[in-house]
Amino acid sequence: MLLTKLTLLSVLISLTHAGPVQALSAALPPRQSPSFKNTNGIVIMCTEANWKGECITLSVPTDDTCVQLQAPFLYNVSAIEPAFGTVCWRYTSANCSDICTSPSGCDMIVQFPGIADLKTDNNWDKKIGSLECEPDFNALGL
Ligand SMILES: *[C@@H]1O[C@H](CO)[C@@H](O)[C@H](O)[C@H]1NC(C)=O
Ligand SMILES: *[C@@H]1O[C@H](CO)[C@@H](O)[C@H](O)[C@H]1NC(C)=O
Repeated sequence: MLLTKLTLLSVLISLTHAGPVQALSAALPPRQSPSFKNTNGIVIMCTEANWKGECITLSVPTDDTCVQLQAPFLYNVSAIEPAFGTVCWRYTSANCSDICTSPSGCDMIVQFPGIADLKTDNNWDKKIGSLECEPDFNALGL
């Protein structure tokens, strides 16, 4: 993970309501070359558990760009769902600077279908300051 890139969310944030995400067709496209790269992924976040409160459908770059959350989502996310095909790393810092030192493994990865109540997930409730996302090559079968 590249930890140095930092992009302000203002360019990326789109204040749309959380709605249905474009469904991937049932038949996956043929295996892509290793150079395949998504340019954007989708992450849905809400300020209250079970997709309540204020929600946002965020378009995120999938090249590990650090996406800094902004109010009201900064340190205020209680439910998060990356769309199928996108995997994200969540950080308690606002600049993707956390380094995982846990000998038992990290709990920073978030994948579809996400977590409806972050209180049930190792105390991540309202702790997310920033995200980095990538195409989920495993989930996509690539
Ligand atoms: C957190 O979200 C709630 C809406 O659910 C909002 O009223 C509140 O102002 C937000 N808090 C912060 C610190 O952004
Ligand atoms: C990132 O944020 C942390 C605290 O959240 C701060 O200690 C650190 O200096 C910041 N790093 C950069 C590169 O801004």
